[in-house]
Amino acid sequence: MKIVVVGKGGREHALVRALAESPGSHELFCFPGSDAISGLAKPVPADGLESLVAWMSANEVDLCVAGEESYLVKGEGLANLCEKAGIPCWGPHLQSAQLEASKEFAKKFLERHGIPTAKATACATLEETVAAIGGKFPTVLKFDGLAAGKGVAVCMVEREATDFLDEVFVQQRFGPGRVLVEDFLTGPEVSIFAAIVDDRYLVFTPARDYKRLGEGDAGPNTGGMGAVASRRLISAELLAEIGKDIVAPTVAGLREDGLPYRGFLYFGLMLTPDGPKVIEYNCRFGDPECQAVMPLVKGDLAAFCLAGAKGELKPELISFDEGWSVCVVLASAGYPESSRSGDVIRGLEEVGNARVYHAGTRRNAAGEWETNGGRVLAVVAGGETRQDAVAAAHAATDKVSFDGMQRRRDIGISSFED
Ligand code: AMP
Ligand code: GLY
Repeated sequence: MKIVVVGKGGREHALVRALAESPGSHELFCFPGSDAISGLAKPVPADGLESLVAWMSANEVDLCVAGEESYLVKGEGLANLCEKAGIPCWGPHLQSAQLEASKEFAKKFLERHGIPTAKATACATLEETVAAIGGKFPTVLKFDGLAAGKGVAVCMVEREATDFLDEVFVQQRFGPGRVLVEDFLTGPEVSIFAAIVDDRYLVFTPARDYKRLGEGDAGPNTGGMGAVASRRLISAELLAEIGKDIVAPTVAGLREDGLPYRGFLYFGLMLTPDGPKVIEYNCRFGDPECQAVMPLVKGDLAAFCLAGAKGELKPELISFDEGWSVCVVLASAGYPESSRSGDVIRGLEEVGNARVYHAGTRRNAAGEWETNGGRVLAVVAGGETRQDAVAAAHAATDKVSFDGMQRRRDIGISSFED
């Protein structure tokens, strides 16, 4: 089978590797890909969405897998264009991907279908937003659009809200858009991934990511400094409750609203004292959660995605390892405000059985790997217990280094009681 994976980061490296390890011999391609991904999947010679789809048609591609969200919401939408061209696509249509692209769309969807979430008010101006906050702190402000992970401000005090609103309405840093003022929730977070095929779904291994730069959840928000995944991350009862109160009504809501969905849907949840609530939807797998979850997926992911893209959910094609997986992200100097490229990476050949997924790397003229972005690498290892997985992942990570490297040593440890 010929498969194209769309994206270029650590998540796509993990997806490509999982597809490459699926039984059968597959010809893998990637768009736009990266130097590391091109070791497993050939880059597609295209310069945009339309030429990508044209190339897939001309080359009789059997399956397109959407890794990142940007192409799902660009132009006519990757999945919509694939459908027109008769190419099975694992990833939702443009109109369904609004669940991620527009926080207001997602909030209305959640409210309409009675799915637990924080209360929110949508505001068009600075004055309206200030009125909706009503002097109550903490509060949560969300820019209504794609903002590269920078569009949410959890404001403990007024000053933080003033600064964020200045960025949004005065500097217009994210372009034009509205702001949601949302109730502040508390509790541990968990990321749930469902493979949705029309009216059916399968929940993958739950995960937790570590969003803050520093140990003990200090410092600025990032794209994710690590993740931990396991079927045992939350209790079977809680997982069943999430399925019944959140995943099933979401799938039913998509059907009711005429929003076609075949692909992964990510539920960002907070386990509040009043039960699990949805913080956000993403129309793709999480990054770096994908890097932690994929090594736990056994069976035939390629056939699973192909069947799903064609409208059949086939849970029997895959199974999930009962153990734990820990993913430690290595970030470059300056991240998250900036990132430094060109630092040579050492020790990659010494990680033993751990997996290393590349996000922001490139090969330099001497053939060495060097940094090329903010999040550089994800080092992933597993174990029967969380403690085993933590020890293996951190020991492997210790082997890797580059100048200015930033890493958290509490991934898989903090936010657990034992
Ligand atoms: P989001 O981009 O919507 O996932 O938000 C980024 C982070 O902000 C989340 O992972 C939470 O840690 C935090 N957050 C979002 N919404 C809320 C909320 N209503 N209450 C408290 N924290 C929140
Ligand atoms: N790990 C958070 C995300 O993928 O958006």
